[in-house]
Amino acid sequence: MTKSPNSGSINNVKHAVDHSASGLNWRNRTLFHGDNLKFLRAMNSESVDLIATDPPFNKGRDFHATPGSLASGAKFQDRWSWEKDVHEEWVDQITDDHPRLMYVIEASRRVYGDDMGAFLCFMSVRLLEMRRVLKPTGSIYLHCDHTASHYLKTIMDAVFGQKNFRNEVLWLYKTGGTSKRWFARKHDTILFYSKGSEYTFNPQKEKSYLSHKYGFSNVDIFEDEKGAYTLTGMRDYWDIPALRGNQPEAVSYPTQKPIPLYERMIKASSNEGDIVCDPFAGCATTLIAAEKLKRQWVGIDIWENAKDIVLDRLVQEKLIGTGMDRTDLFDEEVYFTANPPVRTDDGDRVAPFLRVKERVKEPDGPKWTRAKMYEYLLDQHGSKCQGCDRTFDDPRYLELDHNTPRSDGGLNHVSNRILLCGPCNRLKSNQFTLSGLRRRNGKLGYMAR
Ligand SMILES: C[S@@+](CC[C@H](N)C(=O)[O-])C[C@H]1O[C@@H](n2cnc3c(N)ncnc32)[C@H](O)[C@@H]1O
Repeated sequence: MTKSPNSGSINNVKHAVDHSASGLNWRNRTLFHGDNLKFLRAMNSESVDLIATDPPFNKGRDFHATPGSLASGAKFQDRWSWEKDVHEEWVDQITDDHPRLMYVIEASRRVYGDDMGAFLCFMSVRLLEMRRVLKPTGSIYLHCDHTASHYLKTIMDAVFGQKNFRNEVLWLYKTGGTSKRWFARKHDTILFYSKGSEYTFNPQKEKSYLSHKYGFSNVDIFEDEKGAYTLTGMRDYWDIPALRGNQPEAVSYPTQKPIPLYERMIKASSNEGDIVCDPFAGCATTLIAAEKLKRQWVGIDIWENAKDIVLDRLVQEKLIGTGMDRTDLFDEEVYFTANPPVRTDDGDRVAPFLRVKERVKEPDGPKWTRAKMYEYLLDQHGSKCQGCDRTFDDPRYLELDHNTPRSDGGLNHVSNRILLCGPCNRLKSNQFTLSGLRRRNGKLGYMAR
């Protein structure tokens, strides 16, 4: 086994990573900065044991950290619009390759509104990648709340398969207000899916800090001197106190979750040395919990200062060297980068990059001529082959083709039309949709660089 360059030499963090055996193309304790889709797409397939993540919930507002706190300046947007946030490439890829998923998105969009459709589209392309990076024995815990949990459940069923649904865990807490118009909302929902039928699961005993006793009938309860009850077995509702601002672990990051909550998921669904990933890492609660439990980890967040919080929290929890200079800590203990890793597996992508067809309504009146469609597509995409991204000075090298072949019921309508160079048109023939062609080109090394 070779030691990873940043496998710690301090305290209990001597995780060595054998890159060749594990299929990893990143180091233990990596924090990627940027949009997680870019990094998830760049991570090797089947390389992660557990994903425990807490994405935006579609709350329709922005979150800001407390000024002057450790996380000061942090903010993230949790409002969604179909026009601004949904890339055509996502819609095309989901429609072409995962039609059942698109039905769910469309249904949610119709029932709830465009914002939910946009949020689910955003989540879907990422969840497809998360599924790909999980090992066959891996699992995912997706943290959400009542705003989107039911819609996300249907998305998760479409991506992971309904038969791989394991639990809808309720995280019970007491913080927040009450209402005179409905029952106080005091739980979040955590959707737990495995990737397949064989998966890591370690049944847990749990501590419950309840001020009064419930009449549990199917579990044994032991009370300790602090009034905590240890329950054998594991229920699907967890009463773990939410963070309060005066607790040492609180860094005033908006939406920060308590470490014990993520410890419970990690203990249940991974073993020491396993690889834990949080693509919406925030102030690194999952990563800290993973480190405490001697797991390897990788986190991603779009917030540029996430790295400082991770480091501060690791030092605060005495998980990495307290005596070391900050720069040395970054060099030797935690790896931070905005560059995606290079794939060392076969590079198959669940969610290919596409910059393709515009969905337009057939205009009233006479049908478009080929020339008009050609002009329209040139105007939309420039003089570029949509199959391999090569640009041509002379647009005559681009041919008008169908995305879904006519033989598969594809329409003549402009929304089903694409411009391809000659070689791409021949390679595509009636075999592929555009996303399939682009994947094929990617594998064959034919994409323009
Ligand atoms: C609900 S918070 C996670 C909180 C985290 N569980 C914790 O305890 O700190 C969601 C996080 O997702 C991040 N985020 C949102 N969109 C993202 C994207 N496309 N790529 C990476 N991170 C993203 C936000 O910056 C935010 O930190």
